[in-house]
Amino acid sequence: MCGIIGYIGKKNAIQILINGLHREIYRGYDSSGIVVFGKNEPICIKAVGKIENLEKKLNSQSIEGNLGLGHCRWATHGEVTEANAHPHFDCQKNIFLVHNGIIENYKELKKKLEKEGHQFNSDTDTEVLTHLVEKYFQGNLEEAVRKALREVRGTYGIAVISKKDPQKIVAAKLSSPLILGINKDEFLIASDPSAIITHTRQVINLDDNEIAVLKPDNFFILREKPLTQIEWTPGDEKKGGYPHFMLKEIMEEPEAIENAIKGRLMIEEGSVKLGGFDEIQERLRKINKLILVACGTASYSARIGKYMLEEYAGIPTEVDVGSEFRYRKPIVDKNTAVIFISQSGETADTLASLQEMKKKEILTLGVTNVVGSTQARETNAGVYTRSGSEIAVASSKAFIGQLATLAMLTVYLGRQRDMALIMGKRIVSELSGLPDIAKEVLKSASEIKELAEKYKDFKNFWFIGRKYNSPIASEGALKLKELSYLHAEGIGGGELKHGHLALIDESFPTIAICPSDSVYEKMVSNIEEIKARKGPVIALATKNNKEIKNLVDDVIYIPKTLEMLTPILATIPLHLFSYYMAVLLKNDVDKPRNLAKSVTVE
Ligand code: M6R
Repeated sequence: MCGIIGYIGKKNAIQILINGLHREIYRGYDSSGIVVFGKNEPICIKAVGKIENLEKKLNSQSIEGNLGLGHCRWATHGEVTEANAHPHFDCQKNIFLVHNGIIENYKELKKKLEKEGHQFNSDTDTEVLTHLVEKYFQGNLEEAVRKALREVRGTYGIAVISKKDPQKIVAAKLSSPLILGINKDEFLIASDPSAIITHTRQVINLDDNEIAVLKPDNFFILREKPLTQIEWTPGDEKKGGYPHFMLKEIMEEPEAIENAIKGRLMIEEGSVKLGGFDEIQERLRKINKLILVACGTASYSARIGKYMLEEYAGIPTEVDVGSEFRYRKPIVDKNTAVIFISQSGETADTLASLQEMKKKEILTLGVTNVVGSTQARETNAGVYTRSGSEIAVASSKAFIGQLATLAMLTVYLGRQRDMALIMGKRIVSELSGLPDIAKEVLKSASEIKELAEKYKDFKNFWFIGRKYNSPIASEGALKLKELSYLHAEGIGGGELKHGHLALIDESFPTIAICPSDSVYEKMVSNIEEIKARKGPVIALATKNNKEIKNLVDDVIYIPKTLEMLTPILATIPLHLFSYYMAVLLKNDVDKPRNLAKSVTVE
């Protein structure tokens, strides 16, 4: 959601900025722009729509300069227009600024600045920052930025350059990621490591309220920061021969399980090793209440985590979405731990919830995919899901990584309590074989494609499941909405008769997740209720279940596994189904309309 890239060094900035933007657009965008300080005047070019539109405009001119900023915008304040695209500039066209985040008090600031004579060109919240910096500018850019930021409320990652204090980029952040890339004779600033990985792996994660000043030959920030080594390699973000990142990432779901469990399972001890928890082992033993907080797809893994943790670790567990939790007054004490689950580690509502818990000095734990993300840095301890970079906006393999990680966390906490060795061994050894079982599920891709062909003209879908697979019904429905733009709802099967059945008829198919588990018979009753009302049903059932065939219209089979791990296997066909539906409906699968990969604003 909005991407920033900045360059200062000896090379021509243009191509570096464009390449950086290409690597950031997966976050979601609708317009883009760059500013480069050439020999004479700054050149600022913006375009609506794809980056290619910006490139076309750039190609028509010859621009050179060793200093510049780039930005891809995902509209929050003001329509998708060139004027609203970044970089924004002040009245004198001296200061150019790119921003990620939201300035909450922009209306009052704008009014004040207009009264003082500033003229605005856009409807954005960002532009007030530009004029505020102008207001305080007296020849030293970082000083002006520092004073301007004192007046704003909200969140920001910004990069600013000035014609009258040239040869520097000033960058600052508050609750919006910004990293500094350090290379010989050049510095970069970006909101996402993917934008700079081809230049350098030496990075500094800026912290909230820090201001960085980058010059051609040196840089400084308020505090000294440790260097972090980026652990993934360039090329991770390539499609690897698949037509879409979405399909590539679904196909990588078995690998996501493998990466999550690698080196962590201790089969003989019926336990797992989670290095991130070593230092807080004793504190974890005393925890008697867990709260799992996440958003969107990650919140469904939290709901499954609750089933696992209560059934096998015996710890009372609550689940909430970040957008609600941050405004609640949860009952917590020194024996509560709050676990934040996020692919990006940058989701605004999840991070705000984390800050609330930090204020109360509650133990905060993270289940995070992106290494070095804000969530990973701000939690007391955590586990990386190691799913690799996820580029498609809709989450797929990262969700699978979260489920595998929560299963391990359950064993870890369970074995600290009453979980028997034999039970620990059972879960851990099943987990160790799960990547291969998941590969089996992928073999049904062509059957699922055929099903998508059959159902592509339906406009509404139910997804139902119970117990561990009730959240998977929600995940199946969310993914279908995101990718195919069709109406889909996911509910617990038992809820059908409490109102939802009114919608069932021949035009409203249901995908029923009904593996052979402790609630299978209940699911069969729910399927009967639907069939009695002529609703078409696709069942997701356990291999060798012949009975189900006579009951439903279509069946997708998944292999048998432990009940707590069935959500992992059940998810794969549902992700494939949504993917194929979206392709058949000719949608932009990797970048669904109106959505952003990382929701860094409230
Ligand atoms: O990066 P996070 O896991 O914190 O993101 C949370 C949600 O924004 C995310 O899962 C969203 O729901 C996806 N688009 C779902 O596919």
